Amino acid sequence: MAIENSQGVWLFPNGGTCTRTDCNPRRPLRLVLLGAPGVGKGTQADLISEEFSSCPLSTGDVFRATRGMPKEKISPAMREAIEAMRNGLLVSDDMVIAMVEERGRCLKCGYGFMLDGFPRTVGQAKALDAMLAEMKLELDAVLSYTLDRDSVVERLSGRRTCGKCKTTYHLRFSPPKVEEVCDLCGGELYQRDDDRPEPILKRLEQYEASALPLEEYYKAQGLLLEISAEGSPQTVFERTRGLLRSILQERSAAQA
Ligand code: AP5
Ligand code: MG
Repeated sequence: MAIENSQGVWLFPNGGTCTRTDCNPRRPLRLVLLGAPGVGKGTQADLISEEFSSCPLSTGDVFRATRGMPKEKISPAMREAIEAMRNGLLVSDDMVIAMVEERGRCLKCGYGFMLDGFPRTVGQAKALDAMLAEMKLELDAVLSYTLDRDSVVERLSGRRTCGKCKTTYHLRFSPPKVEEVCDLCGGELYQRDDDRPEPILKRLEQYEASALPLEEYYKAQGLLLEISAEGSPQTVFERTRGLLRSILQERSAAQA
């Protein structure tokens, strides 16, 4: 399957194409986004990408990109991963790390990147550090979004996703103009399998068990920036934008 957009290579490293290959922007930001399922990482990644150009790279999107593919085209390891995801469980470190390594080209991209959903464990974080060291690259920051549990559950339960262009809606906070139809491409909206009540609770448990060690890991490296995810997507983005502009200003000052 050939997908032609800035994430084509990330989703399909052996067939997808990227619309950004011929450019060399000067100020790439390389970020990791942390936060509970449903906190709004994907929503912020899209807003950050519009202003700062870094490509949103979501490991969950890679698994979901197999949706609708014929079963025989999906490897046994990928089928196992999708089953874990459906049930709200984490996919094994080995599988996810190999998947990101296969997409190393996206980490080297001159536009920078925002890893969304990876790393999720300290083991994955160490593997990412090794990959970046090999490429002589460094993270600029790790953005950790925080929100109370009830609001997170509300955001997840009301989410709907376009089956065609992947745009995300929320039944209460950002409904489509026509019920179950994507405003942008007319595609049909669906509810993610893991946005059912039981997987939501499992995902939150998994997140709560792994979040603290990961935050400590990045705090020790001086990279962790906590951001409140309360308020509208635009309000959260304004907080994020302020921090990212400061990073770019510090970088310019250091280079002057
Ligand atoms: P993944 O796809 O990474 O999902 P997640 O971390 O559970 O996060 P979500 O995508 O559910 O939420 P989000 O924070 O992006 O929120 P969104 O912006 O959509 O992972 C899925 C699964 O894949 C995992 O459970 C695991 O099985 C597997 N997996 C992936 N990576 C893995 C790894 N590294 N290791 C092991 N397993 C891995 O927003 C949510 C909703 O809220 C939307 O409806 C949105 O419109 C709305 N919204 C957003 N912001 C706001 C706001 N400010 N106000 C009101 N509504 C808002
Ligand atoms: Mg997401």
